[in-house]
Amino acid sequence: MESSFDVLGIDPDADDTTIERAYRDRIMEAHPDQGGSVEAFQRVRRAYERIRNGETKPPAIGEPSDPNQRHPPSRVEYLNYEVLDDFGWSIEDDDLFRKAHRADLPAEDFGRFLVRPHESLLEAAENRGFAWPFACRGGACANCAVAVLSGELKMPVNTILPSEMYERNIRLSCNGMPLTESMQVVYNLKHLPELDELQLPPRPFEQACMTD
Ligand code: FES
Repeated sequence: MESSFDVLGIDPDADDTTIERAYRDRIMEAHPDQGGSVEAFQRVRRAYERIRNGETKPPAIGEPSDPNQRHPPSRVEYLNYEVLDDFGWSIEDDDLFRKAHRADLPAEDFGRFLVRPHESLLEAAENRGFAWPFACRGGACANCAVAVLSGELKMPVNTILPSEMYERNIRLSCNGMPLTESMQVVYNLKHLPELDELQLPPRPFEQACMTD
């Protein structure tokens, strides 16, 4: 039976660098926009998560997920990074969300929604009708980055954000799962200059939104 290591094309004793490189190569090959498919993409992502979760021997692909991995519902308050420039605000402002409350912003820029168990932050935004940025959906670019100003967002896969960004509470929304009952996030961080080099070309869906 094919193992997670087989999916990534590496030996079970591969070091971290080899695992990361193999994951980035495989996830891009499997991407639907690169001739892959949603199923192939998910298969690679699951294999990587299993290895990262500590599997040291070849496990079976397709086992049911661990029920202990469920996350609680989380009430997320969000703000569009693009708005900050318009108002002269900074992501460092202690009262950023209080100012946003008073600014009468449209729902696409500021508001709240509930992230259900098993939804990533990006999936929850999309399921509520919002078009947040993304590209690979597999932890291999920075297009979907958000800044977490309160609460906690766990990323099962991150091959792209360096440690200094992690320490600044920058996270990926495509696979980020809230660990707290409430959160405040600034989304659309793709406009943050430090993230320029870590981005991929946007998906056609996002390009379509940009030309509307
Ligand atoms: S869309 Fe690429 S890491 Fe989230």
